[in-house]
Amino acid sequence: MKKNLYKVLGLASLLAFGQSAVAQQTYEFTLDAKKVGAPIQSTMYGLFFEDINFGADGGLYAEMVKNRSFDFPQELMGWYTFGKVEVRKDNPPFDKNPNYLVLSNPGHVHKHTGIENEGFRGMGFKKDATYRFSVWAKKVNTMEDQKIRIEFINPKDEIIGSQELVINSSDWQKHQVIITAKVTEEKGRLRIFSTSKGAIAVDHVSLFPTDTYKGRENGLRKDLAQALTDITPGIFRFPGGCIVEGTDLDTRYDWKKTIGPVENRPVNENRWHYTFTHRFFPDYYQSYGLGFYEYFLLSEDMGAEPLPVLSCGLACQFQNEDQHAHVPVSDLAPYIQDALDLIEFANGTVTSAWGKVRADMGHPEPFNLKFIGIGNEQWGEEYPEHLAPFVKEIRAKYPDMKIVGSSGPSADGKQFDYLWPEMKRLKVDLVDEHYYKEPDWFFKNAARYDNYDRKGPAVFAGEYASHDHSTGKQNNFLSALSEAAFMTGLERNADIVHMCTYAPLFAHVDAWQWCPDMIWFDNLRMMKTPNYYVQQLYAQNKGTNTMTLLWSDKKAVTWQENLYASAVYDKGQNCYIVKVANTSTEAKNVKITLTGAEKNTVFTVGDCIVIKNNDLKAINTLDTPTNIIPEKGTAAIDGNILNIQVQGQSFGVYKIKL
Ligand code: AHR
Repeated sequence: MKKNLYKVLGLASLLAFGQSAVAQQTYEFTLDAKKVGAPIQSTMYGLFFEDINFGADGGLYAEMVKNRSFDFPQELMGWYTFGKVEVRKDNPPFDKNPNYLVLSNPGHVHKHTGIENEGFRGMGFKKDATYRFSVWAKKVNTMEDQKIRIEFINPKDEIIGSQELVINSSDWQKHQVIITAKVTEEKGRLRIFSTSKGAIAVDHVSLFPTDTYKGRENGLRKDLAQALTDITPGIFRFPGGCIVEGTDLDTRYDWKKTIGPVENRPVNENRWHYTFTHRFFPDYYQSYGLGFYEYFLLSEDMGAEPLPVLSCGLACQFQNEDQHAHVPVSDLAPYIQDALDLIEFANGTVTSAWGKVRADMGHPEPFNLKFIGIGNEQWGEEYPEHLAPFVKEIRAKYPDMKIVGSSGPSADGKQFDYLWPEMKRLKVDLVDEHYYKEPDWFFKNAARYDNYDRKGPAVFAGEYASHDHSTGKQNNFLSALSEAAFMTGLERNADIVHMCTYAPLFAHVDAWQWCPDMIWFDNLRMMKTPNYYVQQLYAQNKGTNTMTLLWSDKKAVTWQENLYASAVYDKGQNCYIVKVANTSTEAKNVKITLTGAEKNTVFTVGDCIVIKNNDLKAINTLDTPTNIIPEKGTAAIDGNILNIQVQGQSFGVYKIKL
C-alpha cells in the first residue's frame, strides 16, 4: 500500500540541524491514464439558497427598507413615525399589499410629519455611492403640489445624504430620485418627511443601491451575488429548505405569489422568525421581491441549472406532528397544477399562459428548466403518497423533467432507510440527502457512496455542513477540512452523485438563526468562510470525468493514513486534477505515478492551490476575512511521477497537464 523510504540525512545536514536522522515516509498512488471514467455532471457542485439568517430580505436582495409596503401584521414594524401618520387600506394601489400611509402636515414651520425606517439591523451606506429612492405617492385632498424630503441619517442623527421630491398628482404614481451618501455608515436609517402644508399618501417605499449585481433595479447585492457567481456553481436549488413547506400550509412558499410587479407580491411570514425561541426574529418576513423570476435570472447569470423546490402539500413536519397541516392526497390537484404551471412559466412559449407571464416580466426566452424538487425534508408514509401523483402528472406532461425526491431530514436512520426504497419505487431521478453532522462523521464517511446502488436514482447531497459543536458550530478550519476530505468521496462517486450543495448559504451577523453558514455579511461587508473556499475549489476544478486513484497495491483510496484523495480528468483543459486532503498535523510525501499514458506523453505541473491552517479552530471574520484563504501550492513532476509534499492540515488541488 505504501512504501517507507528511510532517507538518512547527510552528515552536513545532521550537523547543521543538530538532530538525528528523520524517517520520511512516502505515500504512493497510481492513476491509470487510460481509464477515463464516468462523466461528471455539470451540476455536480452548486448552491442551495434559502431565506434563512436574513439571506434574502436584508441580504442578497438589495432592498434596504424593511416592511416597505406597511403590510407586516404589525403595520408599522420597522418604522418610527412623527406628526400625523395614518395607516389606511381603502382603495389601495396594490390589492395584495393593501396598506398605505397618509402623512398630514399642518404646515407650521416647526412641525413635521414623517417616517423613519430602520432597515435590516441598520442600512449600509458607502461614501459617494448612489442609491435609488422610490415611492408610490399621491397628494390627498389638496390642489397644492406636495414636497417630501428624503434623508439618510447616521446613529448620531446627522444627515449623510438628502434629496427632495415633488408629489404633484392626485393619482398614485411612482416617483424616484437618486441620492448620494456623503460618508460610509453601517447602521444608517432612512427618513422621509413632508415639507409642505397638506397631505400625501405613500406606499412601497424603497431604497436600493444603484450599483446592484448586473445593474438591475429590483436587484441583488453586488458583493454577495458576485461571491455566488465566483463559485461557478452548476446547480442552484431554491427557495429552501423548510421555507418551502411553511410552518403551516398558508405560509408555505407559493411561487405564484412571488412573480409579477414587485409592489403587488404579498408579504409572507418567514418560517424562521420563531423557529428557535433562543433566536427569535419577529420582524422576519418575506417581501418576495426576490421571487421565482429573480431566482431563474440569477441561475442564468451564474450559469447554473435552476432547481426549484415546491411544496408537496405537507407543511413542515418538524413543526406539525399531527396531520392537520397536511393536504389530503385527494385534494392535491392545485399543488400539482402549481408544479405544472411552474414548468410552463420557466419553459413555455410566449404564447402559453405562463410563458407569457415570464415574457411580460422581460424574459421571452425560456429558462430551460430541467429539474424540479417536490417536497423538502418530508418523511413518513404520507410523503411517498403525496409525491406519487406529482410524479405521475409531471411525467405525463413533461417526460424529460428530472424529478428530485427526498430521503428525509437525516442521512441515516429509520426514515432514511424507509424513503430510499420508496424513491426507487416511484422512480424519481434524484434523491435529496441532508446531513448536518460532526466533523468526525465527515472524516469517517468519505466512502459513503462507494457501494451505493448504481441502478437506482442518482444522489443529490442537497444540504450538508460539518457542525463542530465544540466551538458553537463555527465555520472553523476543522469543519472546512472535514468537508474537503469527505468531498473526495463525492467526487470519486460522481457517476452516482450528480449534485451537491452546502447549506445554508448566507447569514447576517446581526440576524442569523442557524450556523454554520457559507458566507457571512453585515450591511457593508461580507466574509467568505473556509467552507466557501472548499466548495469553490471543487467547483472550479470539477473536471469532466472521474479517474481512479489507487494505492500502489491497487486498493482504492478512501481515507487511509489521514489522506483523502480523488482525481478527475478535464477534457477542455486536457489535464488531470488531483485533490488531496491531509488531516494529520504532519506533512506527507505523496507520489502519484501516472500509468498507461501514450508513448511520448509529456506531463507538466499546472496550477496547484492549497488551503491550510495549523489551527483547526481558526476562522475568518468580517475584520479578518483573509485569515484562511487558498494559496498557491507546489508540486514537482518527474517523468510520469507527480511528487507533492502535502502539508499537514491542508486540502489541495493539483493539476497535471498533458
Ligand atoms: O439549512 C437549514 C435547514 O436545514 C433547511 O431549511 C432544512 O431543509 C434543514 O432542516
